[in-house]
Amino acid sequence: MTSLSMAYTPLSIILFLFIGSSSAHLSTNFYSSSCPKVFSTIKPVLQSAIAKEKRMGASILRLFFHDCFVNGCDGSILLADTANFRGEQHAGPNNGSVRGFKVIDKIKTAVENACPGVVSCADILAVAARDSVVILGGPDWKVKLGRRDARTASATLANNNIPPPTSSLSNLISKFAAQGLSTKDMVALSGAHTIGQARCTSFRGHIYNDADIDASFASLRQKICPRKSGSGDTNLAPLDLQTPTAFDNNYYKNLINKKGLLHSDQELFNNGATDSLVKSYSNSEGSFNSDFVKAMIKMGDISPLTGSKGEIRKICSKIN
Ligand code: HEM
Ligand SMILES: *[C@@H]1O[C@H](CO)[C@@H](O)[C@H](O)[C@H]1NC(C)=O
Repeated sequence: MTSLSMAYTPLSIILFLFIGSSSAHLSTNFYSSSCPKVFSTIKPVLQSAIAKEKRMGASILRLFFHDCFVNGCDGSILLADTANFRGEQHAGPNNGSVRGFKVIDKIKTAVENACPGVVSCADILAVAARDSVVILGGPDWKVKLGRRDARTASATLANNNIPPPTSSLSNLISKFAAQGLSTKDMVALSGAHTIGQARCTSFRGHIYNDADIDASFASLRQKICPRKSGSGDTNLAPLDLQTPTAFDNNYYKNLINKKGLLHSDQELFNNGATDSLVKSYSNSEGSFNSDFVKAMIKMGDISPLTGSKGEIRKICSKIN
């Protein structure tokens, strides 16, 4: 293209070409000749970790989300802080709450034994997130692969991009839109809160100050989460009060009953634009599963490092 014709190409087309090619190198069969055992190596490690502690499946799924929202799914969240490197693990949305790094390290060791220097930590996290959903009874899908690992991380972007539990509906919509994810993607992905736990500090405001909450549910949760900040801050409650270790659509049923744990959860069903979607997911596990899978694939496509960008880390917690 000459510089003259470039100058006359509408910006929207340039953007389209750019975004359209950003994940062109990810494919479901990326390791089919270089590491055919990748899936059969990852899954048993997760199975034993989740058999030991069911919550671990939730923790791994959340790690993938927090990785993808910061410069794309590039394993940046896995980089541990050192004396002269500040990564993402102690940024606000992560500090004291992200977990599962030892399980990822264990998987990486097993994968390195099977195929040394081939499989990125970013891809391991993507597969492990899918396997966690499947092991806990959720839908299955083929994971696109070929991501490479970042050599940097950003605590600032972790703070800016990952929405806090105090978010309004419009904030949630805009934080997901900033990652190229639609409102529908956001509502479907929030269904991940059908598993896992949150700390009192994440839901205190909702159970004491909000009106859009079932009164008996609020008093139940107040029992383990004192009003006074600084007391019981790390006490845990399940995000889905019905089936916290099963991946199902009960999360949406809770919202309809005003039993969402986080303020941000209940925002999805509080007389707003997403009420009808919450209703339809609560009525149809099939439509939730199918939209959740589509949105997970879309989230997994955010800005991957491919080709010669980044590296294949030897150890997930540090750059080579
Ligand atoms: C929509 C915006 C979201 C907000 C505001 C949000 C916020 C939170 C908060 C505050 C916690 C509890 C942290 C703690 O207190 O330790 C949590 C847990 C969790 N989140 Fe989200 N989240 C969102 C979306 C997502 C998405 C998109 C996923 C995955 C696809 C996800 C998966 C999880 C899981 C599985 C847990 C439980 C983790 C565990 O038990 O270790 N969340 N989230
Ligand atoms: C992370 O949390 C710990 C414990 O609550 C706190 O002492 C520390 O200052 C926090 N770190 C950052 C970077 O905020």
